Amino acid sequence: MAATPSEEARAAVLRREVAYHNDRYYRHDDPEIADAEYDALARELRDLEERHPELAVANSPAATVGAAPLTQFTTVVHRVPMMSLDNVFSADELRAWAERVEKQVPEGVSYVGELKVDGLAMSLTYRNGRFGQAATRGDGTSGEDVTANVATIAAIPHELPAAMGPWPELLEVRGEVYMPTAAFEELNERQAAAGERLFVNPRNSAAGSLRQKDPAITASRALSFWAYQLGEVVMPPGVGEPDALRHSHHGTLDWLAHAGFPVSPDRRNLASVDDVVAFCAHWQDARHELGYEIDGVVVKVDDLGVQQRLGSTSRAPRWAIAYKFPPEERSTRLLDIEVSIGRTGKATPFAVLEPVFVGGSTVGLATLHNEDQVRAKDVRPGDLVMVRKAGDVIPEVVGPVKKAGVKRPEAWRFPSTCPVCSGPLVRLEGESDTFCTNLDCGGQRVQRIAHFASRSAMDIEGLGEQRVELFVDLGLLVDVADLYAFTPATLKGVEGFGPQSIANLLAAIEASRSRPLSRILIGLGIRHLGQVGSVALARAFGTVEAIMAAGEDELAAVEGVGPVIASSVSRWFASPLNLGVIGRLRDRGLVLVEPGPADGDEAVPPTLAGRSVVVTGTLPGLTREEAEAVILARGGKSPGTVSAKTYALVVGEAPGASKIDKAERLGVPVVTADGFERLLATGALPDN
Ligand code: IVH
Repeated sequence: MAATPSEEARAAVLRREVAYHNDRYYRHDDPEIADAEYDALARELRDLEERHPELAVANSPAATVGAAPLTQFTTVVHRVPMMSLDNVFSADELRAWAERVEKQVPEGVSYVGELKVDGLAMSLTYRNGRFGQAATRGDGTSGEDVTANVATIAAIPHELPAAMGPWPELLEVRGEVYMPTAAFEELNERQAAAGERLFVNPRNSAAGSLRQKDPAITASRALSFWAYQLGEVVMPPGVGEPDALRHSHHGTLDWLAHAGFPVSPDRRNLASVDDVVAFCAHWQDARHELGYEIDGVVVKVDDLGVQQRLGSTSRAPRWAIAYKFPPEERSTRLLDIEVSIGRTGKATPFAVLEPVFVGGSTVGLATLHNEDQVRAKDVRPGDLVMVRKAGDVIPEVVGPVKKAGVKRPEAWRFPSTCPVCSGPLVRLEGESDTFCTNLDCGGQRVQRIAHFASRSAMDIEGLGEQRVELFVDLGLLVDVADLYAFTPATLKGVEGFGPQSIANLLAAIEASRSRPLSRILIGLGIRHLGQVGSVALARAFGTVEAIMAAGEDELAAVEGVGPVIASSVSRWFASPLNLGVIGRLRDRGLVLVEPGPADGDEAVPPTLAGRSVVVTGTLPGLTREEAEAVILARGGKSPGTVSAKTYALVVGEAPGASKIDKAERLGVPVVTADGFERLLATGALPDN
């Protein structure tokens, strides 16, 4: 059926949009829309052109790859074109692709699954075993010569092992240059400190780093490389191609790894489409356990002869497909920037967004941290902004989506008065945070009391921020000591409280009276004093009186405390207002003492001092909190996630598979419940 006039018009609009966004992404490293939104436009255009071939024009962006290079670098013509990949977005589409492939290959197909690294495609040319040239993909036909910059990437070999020779006269290795997540975060911290523009994501910062005129800048950017494909190979006259390169893709990758190229250890041979689907599902879940970003999985037919038979379209091979994960970046409208007041009076700006589904949940609010961050990100109420939510990470506004020719709204200004109490907001010279300095500010009071009641402090179940706010508004709570004067009569008639909920809340408050001094110290919210410092002080001094009587030097001498915390604690206890709270807590029956080790018990030795031990699953006879407490008691830390810095992962019953996987990948020792006892007693790891 011929295209309708509206389809024809839509195709023209899409062509313009796709070409424009191609240019922003590939040539300027400054995309205006999220990858997923670009994919949707490109796909709509391709579908239209497929349904109505008469709409397809020569050079339609639907049929081309990337964008022609900018002229800053010399142009390199690729001997073998660098193609793109077709995408699928679901297991069903993936199966449909495999079915099409398998129909043409009656003898059966096996696949290789690889990670789709989110970086820049790069072609590396080696002449007689020596690195000679690096070129970007560009428009697939020609790219930019970035040899000097790529030569600074430590992962890329300059000289191939002589023992594997004779080397091809010309060997072209293709792969992805990328920036590890940690390096990206560090780079953005440096950019912010220098007042420079922040990079949107690791891919963009990798691209920006490669486009530097000065290779020394590229060298400072911690880029890395994964090889995933062979380009052209020209052997010396009379020498045949290495056997490993003739038969299978997996054999080629093994050979590349053997030759010293970094090849991802997460590649897998997959015998059936079910295995392919399972591989994709696994990495969709586990993507954040890698130290770099991936946006999908690439599936390739393994047999090189079959690849040849299947061939390519003008833009992509038929023997490979990209399975793309659901997006973690989306654009949405920034409706407003508001300021919230924390318990220390810190005024934190946050974005009020038109709700958007991204990274697995709907995001409506996102912190903007402080005034400098708002300025560095240059986001303004009314802007279209890019929002990113990677895994469990807190959602983030990355920056505005700037459209050429569209006038921006006014820049946002940090308010000069507190949105809760109307007192002045003050930012001190040399500090990045702004504070409400009114100690009587209702906003601070609510946050202080809610923090006191929170799980890590007094753990008063059922007393969250909303209820605290209600009690503060009603004048029932002025400070934390008031909680311990609550009776049924206090709560009677309060909206939302019946006899049962009154009894529950009073029981929860009662139960909190027996918390040790360390938890009370955490709950008081003394600046700089966190969990580790609170426990250290409570243990060292035993009672609140002893802490109050100690000089700043004595406080600072405690392991895990130091001068900054000591000075803050001293100042806190010097305030008559705070001493009043302590006095009333004591009057109302709290003991303010840290129970010491029982008689006859020795003090616990700091066998895990400074070490981070992660626990997964349940350990016999210990709750999760108790397991963490015994680690803490020995000077260790027990964060919720495994990283390269983790000393050991302790595995109990029904453990989390992803934590074990990650520990294995990072080479973190895994300890069983039995080994845990030895670890606590001696700090030593099992030998194997
Ligand atoms: S193979 C002809 N393998 O994805 C096959 N590409 O959307 C060409 N990419 O341009 C590519 N990881 O920049 C391949 N393991 C992988 C990849 C990968 C990331 C990128 C590459 C390519 C783009 C296509």
